[in-house]
Amino acid sequence: MTEQNDQVIRVAQIGVGYWGPNLLRNLMVNPQLIVKAVADLEEDRRVFVKTNYPTVTVESDPEAIIEDPDVDAVVIATPVSTHYDLAMRCVESGKHVLVEKPMATQVSQIEDIARVANNNNLVAMVGHTFLFNQAVRYVKDLIDRGELGDIRYIYSQRVNLGRIRNDVDAMWNLAPHDVSIIQYWLGDIEPLSINRIGMDYVQEGINDVVFLNVIYPNDVMAHIHVSWLDPQKVRKITVVGSKKMVIYDDMAENKIAIFDKGIDPLAVLGSNMDFDDPSVTQFNHRSGDVVFPQISWKEPLKEEIAHFASCIIHEEKCITDTQHALRVVDILSRT
Ligand SMILES: NC(=O)c1ccc[n+]([C@@H]2O[C@H](COP(=O)([O-])OP(=O)(O)OC[C@H]3O[C@@H](n4cnc5c(N)ncnc54)[C@H](O)[C@@H]3O)[C@@H](O)[C@H]2O)c1
Repeated sequence: MTEQNDQVIRVAQIGVGYWGPNLLRNLMVNPQLIVKAVADLEEDRRVFVKTNYPTVTVESDPEAIIEDPDVDAVVIATPVSTHYDLAMRCVESGKHVLVEKPMATQVSQIEDIARVANNNNLVAMVGHTFLFNQAVRYVKDLIDRGELGDIRYIYSQRVNLGRIRNDVDAMWNLAPHDVSIIQYWLGDIEPLSINRIGMDYVQEGINDVVFLNVIYPNDVMAHIHVSWLDPQKVRKITVVGSKKMVIYDDMAENKIAIFDKGIDPLAVLGSNMDFDDPSVTQFNHRSGDVVFPQISWKEPLKEEIAHFASCIIHEEKCITDTQHALRVVDILSRT
């Protein structure tokens, strides 16, 4: 091992509510990280940390972490509306940051975070967990290898009777995942148009259900359906390509199913004994094998935390850097 590989990052976390404990658990087991402190405004959350991780200092004020010179990096798992201020305070104080999704709610805010992080030579990463999911990566590889042919359209459903939020709507809460996955699969390309339709049934002014339509160059369409007002938990994305089709179902035992299905134009013998007579339209329905590839399971959050540590120590390019964070927020904020 080189001297650089032995480097240990002193990390702290702000916010340990519903999602934060998952991050904290993975921070604790990463050999390249030492968890110094956790801050949360709520007493019961601080008790949770003290009880489960007695070596970790607990704070009620995040400033105690932000101003601590012995903290190199901060993980932010607070409500979305607080991300920008906390992330800015961290990078201004010379700390690397991993901010839960979405990094912020305005493109200009992410530009601010990126600028200060770059000036201070810091990693600023967003917690788009699904880019560390082996099934999502498997589909990315299929697309990049041309296995699916040309991508025609993608549609996703991320719905359940979920946690209702009041600082963001269902789109800002759930769709960052789908947008980040689709952007990753398509190579972070710029969409041509984006539109949404949504309704607020439970809380006035906060959409509980949103249908988002995104059109990309080359006639690629994406349709994203998110809701926290739905009878069934569904986490499913279908990709239709010109050669093959894939269903990624995060709730299923076999998370990926690859269908050798499609509709191909049929060569038709014309009156002049030539094939492909354009005046006659016939199609061949191709319905071949369905393959369920074996996906080796790795906990996405564990991978995400390891990537964060690696980006800091080895100055690696971050998969979910501010550029990726910005594209996702740009798409969501253009609706
Ligand atoms: N990656 C995922 O799959 C995933 C899943 C769920 C939530 N999230 C994200 O995690 C973040 C937190 O969501 P949650 O569901 O845990 O919310 P939550 O409300 O359950 O927890 C937030 C915690 O932050 C604390 N907090 C708020 N402001 C604070 C401040 N200024 N300083 C210190 N502590 C503060 C609160 O007391 C609370 O304990 C959100 O950004 C959400 O989008 C990500």
